[in-house]
Amino acid sequence: MRVLIVNGPNLNLLGTRQPDVYGSETLADVENLCRAHAPNATLTFVQSNHEGAMIDAIHLARSTQDGIIINAGAYTHTSIALRDAISSVELPCVEVHLSNIHARETFRHHSYLAPVSLGQIAGFGTQSYTLALDALQAHLDKLQ
Ligand code: DQA
Repeated sequence: MRVLIVNGPNLNLLGTRQPDVYGSETLADVENLCRAHAPNATLTFVQSNHEGAMIDAIHLARSTQDGIIINAGAYTHTSIALRDAISSVELPCVEVHLSNIHARETFRHHSYLAPVSLGQIAGFGTQSYTLALDALQAHLDKLQ
């Protein structure tokens, strides 16, 4: 399977950013973990602090990927534009978060992306990404 893994704002700081909440692993560690977990998958990683760049990456995925895994960071809770981008490309999408957003501040409880995603995986640290890869693979296998 071909998967676009999109990381949004501030996730480039993973490892040094609030390690008590997000852990000490970096975004490069997440990428290595995913590649080791799914060696037969073709994984494309994009990180951007800019909403429009994330939307452009999602649009490009329409013709190049089988699915999307997205940690949209704080845009999860604010961005109707990202939600519309995911609906528009009609690719299966899994929403991930390192932290359990439902156990945190109330403004993090709502996700604009959840209704247009296959599901949401939150609270398992970097393992949220490998769980998302497994979920996406299982979904694509079912379609075969
Ligand atoms: C996050 C949770 C968001 O609420 C926050 O804004 C982030 C990271 C997570 O991975 O836990 O930037 O998406």
